[in-house]
Amino acid sequence: MNILVIGAGGREHALAWQCAKDDKVQQVYVAPGNAGTALETKCQNVILDVTGDDSDHSSVINFCKNNAIDMVIVGPEAPLVNGIIDACRDAGIKAWGPTAYCAQLEGSKTFAKEFMIEHNIPTAAYQGFTDAASAKDYVKEQGAPIVIKADGLAAGKGVIVAETTEQANAAIDDMLADNKFGDAGSRVVIEQCLVGEEASFICMIDGDNILPMATSQDHKRAFEGDTGPNTGGMGAYSPAPVVTQEVHDKVMTQVIQPVVDAMNAAGHPYTGFLYAGLMIDESSDPYVIEFNCRFGDPETQPILMRLQSSMADLVNQGLKGQLPKQAQWDPRPALGIVIASEGYPESSSKGDVIAGLPELTDKSNPSVKVFHAGTAFADGQKVDSLDADSAVDEDKEIVTDGGRVLCVTALANTILDAQQAALTVTGAISFDGAQYRRDIGHHAITRDMINSAPTNH
Ligand code: AMP
Ligand code: GLY
Repeated sequence: MNILVIGAGGREHALAWQCAKDDKVQQVYVAPGNAGTALETKCQNVILDVTGDDSDHSSVINFCKNNAIDMVIVGPEAPLVNGIIDACRDAGIKAWGPTAYCAQLEGSKTFAKEFMIEHNIPTAAYQGFTDAASAKDYVKEQGAPIVIKADGLAAGKGVIVAETTEQANAAIDDMLADNKFGDAGSRVVIEQCLVGEEASFICMIDGDNILPMATSQDHKRAFEGDTGPNTGGMGAYSPAPVVTQEVHDKVMTQVIQPVVDAMNAAGHPYTGFLYAGLMIDESSDPYVIEFNCRFGDPETQPILMRLQSSMADLVNQGLKGQLPKQAQWDPRPALGIVIASEGYPESSSKGDVIAGLPELTDKSNPSVKVFHAGTAFADGQKVDSLDADSAVDEDKEIVTDGGRVLCVTALANTILDAQQAALTVTGAISFDGAQYRRDIGHHAITRDMINSAPTNH
């Protein structure tokens, strides 16, 4: 099997690595990938126009035809929202992900909110605005805390949880008047602030069958103690103890199954990964904060550390409409710590040399894996040659090339041991301006101390 993974982050490194572990997989191409995917066994980076801005996705389609690609796995939301799955299908190429119609669940918060209200999926009350004065009137009426969101895609950063009405008004001005998020913020959604504990619930869906991935939780705030600005995610772990069997059952019946049914009724079957970002309240009731039409980043990294089934097999079965009901999971928890560059999420860095990186397959420490995200080689390249004879020089210097740079992920008997194992390797890696959180997993670690009940998902 030959596979093309689209994307450049830690999620894509984890997907490519997991697929490459399957003996049936000959080659995994990653477009555009990063230094990690360039060096990973059986993986090779390729430069393609993956954005869909060429509108017909011909770069990807031609590559698949010329390189006997058996399936495409799309990591990030932008190509999905831009219709890469529709275009591949039309060209007879097997591609895993939702169509552009279904990807609106992530691409437009207004679409997602209207969809949830129409189909009785539990979510926060909301209203949408394009005009700052009416938005501020609504905030005045509702009071704080309140949540202000840019309507379109903003890489996880277009959400302000405002503690005061002043903060809410400032966020409205940033988005509607000052255009801080460009077109994505030309419309805002203002939501009731939900209270509880968050969890990420990610499934594979083949139109009808639902295969839940292991549960997980990420840490969206930049700083320790879950403070600071929202980011794409500073770390994650799996499983999320807040998702008890009772919560799991509620999410399946109140959230995931209604999406599958509603999309089928609309004539647009949902295929691909579906990510429900949830708030679980005191009564163990789940509320959807957001839908994503893809796997989470960094949730993918710890989840795939635990996946014992072959991701290539699962996607293959999904493409045939034959997803199994369950996958095999390592019962041990996994935890990933993101090392980000200075100034993230406001800015990112390029070209800072990364020291202390362990080998990608570190035989002396097999339960820790460093997934790359914003990395490149020192010459600015990410790509090895398509010519198999000219493999990447393993000794090339690796440098930063983005906001989130690495995700150090560890499997261990307890979540605390996984955190400590990941921290040890994280502490040995350095580059100018590196920042990371030392408290990833704190919710689960506290719960573990109170109650160490085993979990089967
Ligand atoms: P989103 O991009 O919609 O997932 O929002 C990013 C983060 O903002 C979430 O993970 C939550 O931590 C927070 N958030 C978003 N919406 C709400 C809400 N209605 N109530 C409380 N927190 C929220
Ligand atoms: N970690 C959050 C996301 O992937 O959107």
